[in-house]
Amino acid sequence: MSTAESSSVAATTSAETQTSTQSVLQLQVASHVKFIKELDQKKDDLFYWTSEHLRLNGVYWGLTALFLLGKPETLDAADVIAYVKSCQQASGGFGGHVGHDAHLLCTLSAVQVLTMLNAVDSVDVEAIVQYVRQLQDPATGAFTGDEWGETDTRFSFSALACLSLLGRLDAIDVEKAVAYVLACQNADGGFGSVPGAESHSGQIFCCLGLLSIAGALDRIDQDELAWWLCERQLPNGGLNGRPEKKEDVCYSWWVLSSLSILGKLHWINRDKLINFILQSQDDETGGIADRQGHYPDVFHTLFGVAGLSLLGYPGLEAVNPVYCMPANIIKRLGLER
Ligand code: FPP
Ligand code: ZN
Repeated sequence: MSTAESSSVAATTSAETQTSTQSVLQLQVASHVKFIKELDQKKDDLFYWTSEHLRLNGVYWGLTALFLLGKPETLDAADVIAYVKSCQQASGGFGGHVGHDAHLLCTLSAVQVLTMLNAVDSVDVEAIVQYVRQLQDPATGAFTGDEWGETDTRFSFSALACLSLLGRLDAIDVEKAVAYVLACQNADGGFGSVPGAESHSGQIFCCLGLLSIAGALDRIDQDELAWWLCERQLPNGGLNGRPEKKEDVCYSWWVLSSLSILGKLHWINRDKLINFILQSQDDETGGIADRQGHYPDVFHTLFGVAGLSLLGYPGLEAVNPVYCMPANIIKRLGLER
C-alpha cells in the first residue's frame, strides 16, 4: 500500500488496527477517482457487457462516490444527464440502460443522479410519479419492482425515496406502505424482503429508510434491532449481512447506515471497520472490493467510501444515511430528519 499518494487522506487508526509493519492505511482518493472515471472505457472487459442491465445503477454508484470523494466534476454532467434521460421509457419509469424495460430500482437511481446534478426539471416528473404510483398494491401497500409483480421491501424503499426526492409522497398511500414494512419485521428485530422472510441487513436498511422517510421510526423496537445490527461485526472488523455469513464491504453501508438512522453508530468498533475497508482497496487499479484480495467494482467502491463517510473519515463529504446521497443536497431539499 503506497502512502505517498498526494491526494490521500490519512485514517486515524488505533495502534491495534495498524498493520504489522506499522504503516497507516490511507484512502487512495486519486486512484478511486481514476477507477470510476475509466469505468466507461473498459469495453474489452466481459463484465462491461454482462453488466449492461446495471449501467444506470452504476452511474448512480460512481457519481455518488465521486461526490463523497469531493470530485463531482470528474464526469461530464451534460453527458450524464443525457444518458439518464435516454433510459426513460414511455411508462415514465427508467430502465437499466437505453432500450431496457423500466424498473423501480433503476428509476430511483435516475432520480438520485438527476437530483445530484440539479436536473430533475429536465425530465417528465409527472410521468415518473404515475409510474411509481401504479406499482403500489392498494390492498397490502406493498410495491412491485415492475409490471411482473415481484414484491420486495427494496421496492417499497425505492418508491418512497424516489417520490420524496421529487416532493410527491402525496401520490401514494404512505400509511399502507408503512404497515406493509412493519409486517416484514421479525421476532429478532430485523426485517426481511417479504413478511416471514429472514432478517437481512440490506432489507433492514430499506425498511428503516422507508420508516424514516415516513416519520414512523417510533413504531419499532429500535434497541433490539440495533443489537442485531452491531452483532454483524466480525473479529477482523468487517460486517456481515446476516449471522454465519462472511464479512463484505457493502455491509459497511447496509449495516452502518441502519445504525446511523437509529443513532447507534457508536455500537460498533470504528477503527477496526475503517481498517477493514481500507484493506479492501486495490493498490494497483484503484477501486474497493468486497474484501481484501478480490477484484474491485464500483458498487463496493461506493459503499466502502460511504461507510467511511458515515464513520467521519477525514476529508470525505458527509453522506445522508437514508438516501445514500451527499448530506448537503438532502438538507437543501429539506429532507433531513
Ligand atoms: C444486499 O444485496 C442489499 C440489499 C438487499 C439492499 C439493496 C437496496 C436497494 C437496491 C435500494 C436502493 C439502495 C440505495 C443505497 C439507494 P445482495 O444481493 O448483495 O445480498 P447478499 O449479500 O445476501 O447476496
Ligand atoms: Zn457486497
